[in-house]
Amino acid sequence: MTMNISATKAGYWDFGGGQRIARLGYGTMQLTGPGVMGPPADREQAVAVLRRAVELGVNHIDTSDFYGPHVANEILKEALYPYDGLVLVTKVGAKRNAAGDWLPALGATELREAVHDNLRRLGLDRIDAVNLRLYGLNGPEEGSLEEQFTVLAELREQGLIRHLGISNATPAQLAEAQGIAPVACVQNYYNIVQRSDEAFVRQCAEQGVAYVPFFPLGGFQLIADERIGKVAERHGATIPQIALTWLLTRSPNLLAIPGTSSLAHLEDNIAAASLRLSEDDLADLEPLAG
Ligand SMILES: NC(=O)c1ccc[n+]([C@@H]2O[C@H](COP(=O)([O-])OP(=O)(O)OC[C@H]3O[C@@H](n4cnc5c(N)ncnc54)[C@H](OP(=O)(O)O)[C@@H]3O)[C@@H](O)[C@H]2O)c1
Repeated sequence: MTMNISATKAGYWDFGGGQRIARLGYGTMQLTGPGVMGPPADREQAVAVLRRAVELGVNHIDTSDFYGPHVANEILKEALYPYDGLVLVTKVGAKRNAAGDWLPALGATELREAVHDNLRRLGLDRIDAVNLRLYGLNGPEEGSLEEQFTVLAELREQGLIRHLGISNATPAQLAEAQGIAPVACVQNYYNIVQRSDEAFVRQCAEQGVAYVPFFPLGGFQLIADERIGKVAERHGATIPQIALTWLLTRSPNLLAIPGTSSLAHLEDNIAAASLRLSEDDLADLEPLAG
């Protein structure tokens, strides 16, 4: 069964105009210790998960130097350097303190240092994409990103970054960012039960911007709903698989980056690229909009 699974079965997206990526990717946030702090319980397995993801067709990997901090990037380098054929996307704009709190790090110097930290830790001269992670405790908050995005646009001009993105952002912030430099991707909280960005997803699609939902499986609280369970049963699938297939069905610009520390979950997630939802399935899942 695992011989036939491939991330490419959900098709491709032309990332930033020029980089062809499988729409089912991988996010590294689960490769650290508890609370996204410190080393994982099983580092060898973390390395194995990344290598297996690539063997199974994943070529889009989302990461950040603030996962661990540094831990996820160090494991990514150990597993996959020199990243042949891969598109690595990182994010800057936050930092961790010793207690593990997530704090904003949106000053010009902090942003520059964060990009350099990512490059150094990953062993790169240039990274494929950097998302500006905006601070909003309970989701995106309006406010100008001109100062911060200009810093990243300058680093892009210098050749350190190929593409730019924004995260935890609003449509107005996308428009403002596009006035400064091209935007390849938006990374916001969205999944089968959390659809407040529905119009934003469509707007990004109309503009050729990738929409990359974080917490595609619910993040710290795994999605569990018996209505998804019923659809899953029809396909002999799991709820996380249906949640991923639903995302991939929703819009062609939607790229999935589920995170896992488990080889079995990784293979389940990649197998979701082969599932196809019927009109009846989609109708049964529609009431989950929240
Ligand atoms: N821009 C941002 O602000 C932001 C915020 C959060 C995350 N992200 C990015 O988005 C990526 C995805 O988000 P996420 O990893 O936080 O959340 P997620 O993908 O929604 O869910 C991860 C959780 O689901 C479990 N899981 C994964 N596959 C499973 C399966 N097939 N069956 C059962 N459980 C499964 C994982 O546990 P196991 O390890 O046990 O599988 C983990 O607890 C991250 O890795 C990160 O790159 C970005």
